[in-house]
Amino acid sequence: MDVYESALDLIGGTPLVRIRSAGAAAVYAKLEYLSVGGSAKDRIGRRMIEQAEKDGLLGPGGTVVEATSGNTGVGLALVAAEKGYRTVLVVSDRVSREKVDTLRAFGAEVVVKPSNRPREHPDHPMRFAAHLAETTPGGWLANQYDNPANPEAHYLTTGPEIWRQTHGRVTHLVSCIGTGGTISGAGRYLKEVSGSAVQVIGADPASSVYAGGDGRPYFIEAAGHFVHPDTAQDVWPTSYQRDVVDRVVPVADRQALDTLRQLARTQGLLVGGSSGTALAAAHQVAAGAGADAVVVVVLPDSGRQYLSKYFNDAWMLGLGFLDGDASGARVADAVTEDSRTSPLPYLTTRTTVGEALAALRARAGAGADAVLPAGPCPTSSDRRPMAPELTGSVTLAALESALHDGTAAPSDPLADHLEPPLLAFGYGEPAEDAVGRLAGHTHSTAVVLRDGCAEALITSSALRAALPTRH
Ligand SMILES: Cc1ncc(COP(=O)(O)O)c(C=O)c1O
Repeated sequence: MDVYESALDLIGGTPLVRIRSAGAAAVYAKLEYLSVGGSAKDRIGRRMIEQAEKDGLLGPGGTVVEATSGNTGVGLALVAAEKGYRTVLVVSDRVSREKVDTLRAFGAEVVVKPSNRPREHPDHPMRFAAHLAETTPGGWLANQYDNPANPEAHYLTTGPEIWRQTHGRVTHLVSCIGTGGTISGAGRYLKEVSGSAVQVIGADPASSVYAGGDGRPYFIEAAGHFVHPDTAQDVWPTSYQRDVVDRVVPVADRQALDTLRQLARTQGLLVGGSSGTALAAAHQVAAGAGADAVVVVVLPDSGRQYLSKYFNDAWMLGLGFLDGDASGARVADAVTEDSRTSPLPYLTTRTTVGEALAALRARAGAGADAVLPAGPCPTSSDRRPMAPELTGSVTLAALESALHDGTAAPSDPLADHLEPPLLAFGYGEPAEDAVGRLAGHTHSTAVVLRDGCAEALITSSALRAALPTRH
């Protein structure tokens, strides 16, 4: 019979499919979403669990614990389910609803923790998972970030599959870097088998630190490395073996999103955000390579888990990733040239009340509404805050009255006197919608977002002025 004995036999073994690309080089995508659990992480779920069993760390009645953005959770949960282990997964609240529901469907228990905690905080998913594994009898922490079985899974399966499938003709491997397991394992295998002829190229969200970014937030889930501003010492996973990687290409979120939306519409492949990042980098690599080049790009998961985000026009528009309908008045039409070109005043929660007052007064003097967004990150004139960093706001009136009442002192950290964040609109949203939403809000000032980043402040009167006059 042409059958498989268990789900474990359907892990990996994914196909390569040709992707149309501008250059002469051939680009093939490795469709990891066709693995049984829907991602590249099935491979490491199996390998990490089986290695732990061999090492005597996991046995009958045991509990698999991990902090995971979702896919590793599925990989672990499906292997654990098949083998009869309990699974507890800790995820951050940035992870999409669909991913959490999928984990629960596999029988895993899911604990959701806030995403805006530094690594040292006991509620940081990784810290919390480690504590849980230690305090649960029979608990074992998979620890994909620092588990040698993670890159090894790709060394033993992904790399050899690519070599076999291309009959040894692969010249470039392109992969995202999250834990670094895929690129390190598959990359090391391909380097070894080709006598170092294969070029190994990382693809990274532009603000992630792997490609030299400053670690600020980005919108592509599961790829790259974000650094919380309060992190004392940034630590890179040991699953990422940098010596294997020849270079890392930064890819802006917008480019990644455009690439993956385009791929679904023109080539019938529905893939996730990190696949968009990887594929955008692969197109760049292919454009610079010769006609004999065979570029293989790993696409880690399916777009089905991101239907409410990357494939949702309202989500894209709200963050300023789409131009919107240019035939009507858009938020962008109400942004003055002045506010577009002068840096957005932005306060960090570490500034003092005295410093905040000085900034607010300067802005009030310039005739602008004296409301400023505030958040945790330090910023500079060329570093505008990203939407997730806009965690609060302050007004001149509120701070002045707090000083007057004695409930605030000039040396107080601003964090103690924050009001709720300003509303934010994508630049392509209809101006009329923005006017309506702003009408019900405390402040008549809002933030305009472009590519997920605060571009300007806007007032309700400017928005109304941009609307066509009705006769
Ligand atoms: C969707 C997705 N893309 C990319 C990655 C990164 O792969 P790796 O952890 O092997 O570097 C992951 C892993 O977390 C993932 O789930």
